[in-house]
Amino acid sequence: MQSAYSFVSVAMTNHIYQSPLNYTGGKYRLLPQILPYFPKGINTFIDLFCGGCNVGLNVIATNHTYNDINPWLIGLYSAFKNNDKGLMLNTVYEIINKHNLSLVSKYGYAYYNCDSSSGLGPYNRDHFRNLKIHFNQYTGIKDYYYYAMLYVLIVYSFNNQIRFNKDGEFNLPIGKRDFNSKMESKLLAFIDIIKSQNASFTCLDFTGIDSSLLSTSDFVYIDPPYLITCATYNEQNAWNEEKEHLLLKYIDNLTARHIRCALSNVLSSKGKINIILNNWLKCNVSKYNVHHLRKSYANSSYHTSEIEGISDEVLITNY
Ligand SMILES: C[S@@+](CC[C@H](N)C(=O)[O-])C[C@H]1O[C@@H](n2cnc3c(N)ncnc32)[C@H](O)[C@@H]1O
Repeated sequence: MQSAYSFVSVAMTNHIYQSPLNYTGGKYRLLPQILPYFPKGINTFIDLFCGGCNVGLNVIATNHTYNDINPWLIGLYSAFKNNDKGLMLNTVYEIINKHNLSLVSKYGYAYYNCDSSSGLGPYNRDHFRNLKIHFNQYTGIKDYYYYAMLYVLIVYSFNNQIRFNKDGEFNLPIGKRDFNSKMESKLLAFIDIIKSQNASFTCLDFTGIDSSLLSTSDFVYIDPPYLITCATYNEQNAWNEEKEHLLLKYIDNLTARHIRCALSNVLSSKGKINIILNNWLKCNVSKYNVHHLRKSYANSSYHTSEIEGISDEVLITNY
């Protein structure tokens, strides 16, 4: 009953929730094309490579499992889920204030001797560096305060990204913007949604998600790093041909057990072809359906003719 109602309400309001993180590879813009392919009446929804959680946020299910191999990401979401929303928001403002970071929504650009086109980097650079050092040297308990610091770092960092080096240090440079009302709204909506969902957050390699516990009323959404494109989470060979083969085996296993799943990927991109994925599809024509998507380049300067040649973004379903 609850799921039927919620599906209708999403369809009627046409509102799609966005991750509070500007996550590379996030599927927010593709959701209007992806969601209609998802089944209704899902018991447990598994977001196997949850990243920014853009997908799980917008899927109605009795239970949600968000999994990602990135421990900081999962720690951050768990802190949002398990702590009071007001406490998290107040702590974000407290950290911004304590580290003298800008807050244009309150004081305006002129107060910081900056303007919108060149951004707030010149004012925030040293303050951001101090917060980064404090965070990276922090030895206290990784509680709400630690994750509020991480969130502030993400908000003030270059393109609002999340990136840690091999030594586990947050290592992005300063960005152009600060914490604004749009970010605050996305953060608060995100906290509301994950608190209202029966959601659990796990930090495992995808092979650690035991599919033998799933049944035919469950649904697995699979959005791995793409073998033939670049992202911070693909660095240092983190996603390679071996992982791609393992993932396709994982999917075959779900399919053999009639557990529904959908895989996001690109068959080709900027002249590169994912041969492993293309061959797997050729060998399994009767098992999988390939839905070609229109990629959203709303914020790019590409011409239409160029866009079409850029990538073949697909959703592959086993139902
Ligand atoms: C394309 S992003 C997911 C984006 C997400 N669907 C969204 O819309 O925000 C891929 C994610 O896979 C995660 N990842 C990489 N290798 C993994 C692995 N072996 N097991 C689980 N997660 C992994 C990365 O940390 C990254 O967050």
